[in-house]
Amino acid sequence: MEIFHISAECYPMAKVGGLADVVGALPKYQKNAGNEVRVVVPAYDTKFRKENDFECVHWGTVKLGNFNFPFSVLKECTDKLGYELYLIEINELFNRPNIYGYEDDIERFLSFQIAALDWIIARNKVPDIINCHDHHTGLIPFLLKFAYKYENLKDVKTAITIHNGLYQGWFGFDKLYYLPEFDLKHVGFLEWNNSINSLAVGVKCANAVTTVSPSYLDEINYNANGLESLFNTVRNKSKGILNGIDIEIWNPLKDPMIAANYSIENFEIGKQKNKEKLCEQFDLDPAKPLFSFIGRLFEEKGGDLLPQASALALSEHFEDINILILGSGNSEIESHLIQLRNDYKGNYNVFIGYNEDLAHLIYAGSDYILMPSRVEPCGLNQMYAMRYGTIPIVRRTGGLRDTVIDFGDDGNGICHDQASVADICYSINRAVRLYEDKLNFNKVLKKGMSADHSWESVCQEYIEIYNLIIQQNEI
Ligand code: GLC
Repeated sequence: MEIFHISAECYPMAKVGGLADVVGALPKYQKNAGNEVRVVVPAYDTKFRKENDFECVHWGTVKLGNFNFPFSVLKECTDKLGYELYLIEINELFNRPNIYGYEDDIERFLSFQIAALDWIIARNKVPDIINCHDHHTGLIPFLLKFAYKYENLKDVKTAITIHNGLYQGWFGFDKLYYLPEFDLKHVGFLEWNNSINSLAVGVKCANAVTTVSPSYLDEINYNANGLESLFNTVRNKSKGILNGIDIEIWNPLKDPMIAANYSIENFEIGKQKNKEKLCEQFDLDPAKPLFSFIGRLFEEKGGDLLPQASALALSEHFEDINILILGSGNSEIESHLIQLRNDYKGNYNVFIGYNEDLAHLIYAGSDYILMPSRVEPCGLNQMYAMRYGTIPIVRRTGGLRDTVIDFGDDGNGICHDQASVADICYSINRAVRLYEDKLNFNKVLKKGMSADHSWESVCQEYIEIYNLIIQQNEI
């Protein structure tokens, strides 16, 4: 079958978070399973865009109300990613270094969606499935169904995958005229709480809704930033599918970004070498257990709890542990984390920013990874960590609940229930004791390392849903 993934992010072209990793990996496995798979993202001004060759396969003009934006569709020439990657180039809107955070984000992503559909319809070949991801592509199922100019695509089946239901892409009805003309009797599909809510539109109009873990599907019935009742209503066409990870990129035995390669057979030596390199780089002590955090520094991820939890844990343990933080986000959290450097020199450090190579080294060289998330639709870091022999310490929520089981229940990690400083510190205490009991520590670590989180099996679950919606319209 021919599948399109349309998304705001796709690793390695453009990454802010886990969305990119998923859209960069799932298509590859779907292609390996015998499908024709194409991924479409905006042509941001990123390193990948600059360093790779693209050919122009289509051009046109997006009409957004009174604005006209010329666009081109660029295809990555080599298909080296394992699927066909297409970029929608609209220089005025996307030739910028960042992916999000501009005043005209609504105009940017609306133009992206319209240009993508203008191109797809111009190919004269109707795809079987369009899989949208998050709110940036939420209007596509609506436009396909109701916009006059996409009439020939109205039978294309759509799925929307929700990686994060907190962000919804709202805009006012004053911008309704941006949309291609459609029969106004369907305007109700656009509305949620008196505005146009891109995510809600996608959820209402798509043939299937998927979330990135089964537990997250349960959670959004009572915690979805205002869309709870909608998610309840569409429950019969929804499914939670746990993300996989790209085990080719995330492989401690072959990873070129780490200091020493290793497998479950020789992890002790391999991890120690990585830890030494990491500790040297960040002025930490490799003899002590190393707790790391990698991610965006926002409340959603429990980032606001990190400064206090780190300070408390470091003082309770008389500086017998190391803590290392890699991330960026809320500037207040960032500055608290930076201040801590002075108080716990030699046992604590922080790197503000995003650095893929460093992230790999941290997974390889740490003993524990902290994930105190308030909301975690799936979470990939705990899976990367486990694959690299690093034990996850997680708050039981969303995908973390589905992938990490407390070692007290013979599991692969350490779990707590509250997103609170007290719960994090309690878990760190347990982790310190576990670290001293090497036999048990290694048992827990090996459980994580030997788990199979690959996309191969998961990818089939998506195909099953596509088949169901092709055959019977809904799942
Ligand atoms: C978002 C979610 C994260 C999930 C990722 C990929 O970033 O916050 O939990 O793992 O998307 O689906």
